[in-house]
Parts: sequence; structure tokens; C-alpha cells
Amino acid sequence: MPLPIAVLVSGRGSNLAALIDAGEAGKLPVTFALVASDKADAAALRKAEAHGIPTLALDPKTFASRREFDEALFANVAASGAQLVVLAGYMRIIDAAVTAEWAGRMINIHPSLLPKYRGLHTHRRVLKARDIEHGASVHFVSADLDGGPVIAQAHIDVHPGDSEDSLAERLLHKEHLLLVACVDAIARGDVCERSGAVWYRGRPITAPLRLGDGGHLTCA
Ligand code: GRF
Repeated sequence: MPLPIAVLVSGRGSNLAALIDAGEAGKLPVTFALVASDKADAAALRKAEAHGIPTLALDPKTFASRREFDEALFANVAASGAQLVVLAGYMRIIDAAVTAEWAGRMINIHPSLLPKYRGLHTHRRVLKARDIEHGASVHFVSADLDGGPVIAQAHIDVHPGDSEDSLAERLLHKEHLLLVACVDAIARGDVCERSGAVWYRGRPITAPLRLGDGGHLTCA
């Protein structure tokens, strides 16, 4: 049985597009119950519409508080029948009551090798620190911003002469593979969260899984 998912987006939607493409190619056992955004003009919403996926845009400014906005948003997510929420370039912090309710059923993709560089401007911070390696992480969402248990990571080398843009571009391709692999692993029952730990094929993992060359997850 395919897993119904909801994808939350705020911008361009290339990660969403990677999920849609994998689904349409028969490589990802999910159905798209809803694509929702805090930005009515997000290009990601147009992508979803073009593929016949139900969409929703809610404007945070029309709600009295973060909690009221998130309650309305996630009431719609629940009503869609989604069993997994994927934050794919969703740029809002989510209320702690909602993250608690969806614990183990909500994941986020973040462009850094967590726990390094939570928050914004990760590529800039990698360059400033003169790191030789960079990457992306997919993690279960907790109340702690970019702080929930990490499922898997994709790694890239930092090249001499790299700029924020070149790093972002090189990493984005890996993000797409990583996100598809993680959603696939959850949909197949290979990955889940129990008591704040990530389990892979029946065992808790002690380090994030790693995206291998073939786009598959491997134990580190
Ligand atoms: C990605 O780099 C993601 O890691 C970050 O925001 C970007 C979203 O890109 N959180 P897109 O909207 O999926 O193209």
C-alpha cells in the first residue's frame, strides 16, 4: 500500500519535484495527499498543481499566533489523510505542540551535516569555517529547530574556489537523492523513530545512514 504524504514548501520546490518524479516513475511507494505552503506565490505550489496534487496556501499574517496558524495548517494536513509530513524547503518554525503530535511522522531536509550549522546560511558558514566537507541531512522533526534525530546524510567535498552558489548547486542534486531515499525507506517500513532514536531495519542506528553512490542508504 502506498504511503499518503503531505509536503510543506515555501519556495522553488525542486525537492518536491524530485519526490513527484520518483513517484511518477514508480520508484517511490507514496501518494501525494497534499502540498501546502505559507506562501501563496511559491513556485512549488504551481508544480504540484501541474501534477494534479491538491494544494493549500495559508497566510500566517491572517492568524493571531504561530500556534493558531499551525493548528489550521495541520488540521488540513490530517484531513488530507497524510501519514507522513515532509518539510521540503519549508521556512517556518513549527509550534512545539504540533511537532509533538507529529513526532516520528514528520521529516525535514536541511543543507548541512547536522549537528553542524543548524538554521540559515549553511553554505556561507561552511566556507567561513574552511570545512573540507559539506552535506545535507534528513531528520525527524522535533521542537528543537533542525535538532531532531538524523536519519541519513549525503556528503560532498568542498572544492578550492567554491562559492555559496556553487556549493548550493552541487549539494542540491544530492539533496534530491537523499530525500527520495529517506521517504522511500520510511514508506517501506525500513526506517522509523522510536523514543527519539532512528531505527533502521529493526535496530537503532548509532550514526546517520549515508547516501551511497547508487542513491541507496547504507549504514555508516
Ligand atoms: C533546500 O536547499 C533545502 O535543503 C532547504 O531549502 C532548499 C529548498 O529548495 N531547506 P527547493 O525549494 O526544494 O528547491
